[in-house]
Amino acid sequence: MSVAAVYHQLIFPIHRQPEVFVPFGLQLLGVGHEFWDLGHIDLQGIDLKSPPFDFIERVVGQEKMDRLNTFRGPQGKFDIVCLSPQTPEWEEKKALFAKPHTHNEPEIRLILEGEGLFTIRDKGAQYPTFVQRGSLLVIPSDTVHSFALTDKQTITALRVFQTKDGWVPNYLN
Ligand code: LAC
Ligand code: NI
Repeated sequence: MSVAAVYHQLIFPIHRQPEVFVPFGLQLLGVGHEFWDLGHIDLQGIDLKSPPFDFIERVVGQEKMDRLNTFRGPQGKFDIVCLSPQTPEWEEKKALFAKPHTHNEPEIRLILEGEGLFTIRDKGAQYPTFVQRGSLLVIPSDTVHSFALTDKQTITALRVFQTKDGWVPNYLN
């Protein structure tokens, strides 16, 4: 990365560009944020609750698939969620995502389409973290975060779970 790019990212840490700047505070928390080059995605006929591994591998490539499988672990699973104003109980869901919460396992999301804004918190600090198609975000367990859509109002994400029940949110008061 050039000096100019580093300088630019210090000023615009959520600027929409492939090389992801991870603020030092997020690095200390162990947050992972990368940009992956994705292949063509056609969700037609795909079981979103249990997307076939070969479908995911076609989208991310074999090397990245190996990494996703490492994140998932033997007990884990993948699913795909599509969020938009057409989603049933959209207002309720939006309100829940906006509430700061933690999980007992890492929150691992590969954004397939659309975009969104995570806000990761550590004590007094807030780190707005923009994600878009190709963003891989790993928020460690017990790390406080919230989520909102952008004005595009839609996002599709591959979710990686390490256990069946670890992802239940724990809301802060
Ligand atoms: C979740 C995100 C949106 O828990 O934080 O699904
Ligand atoms: Ni969460």
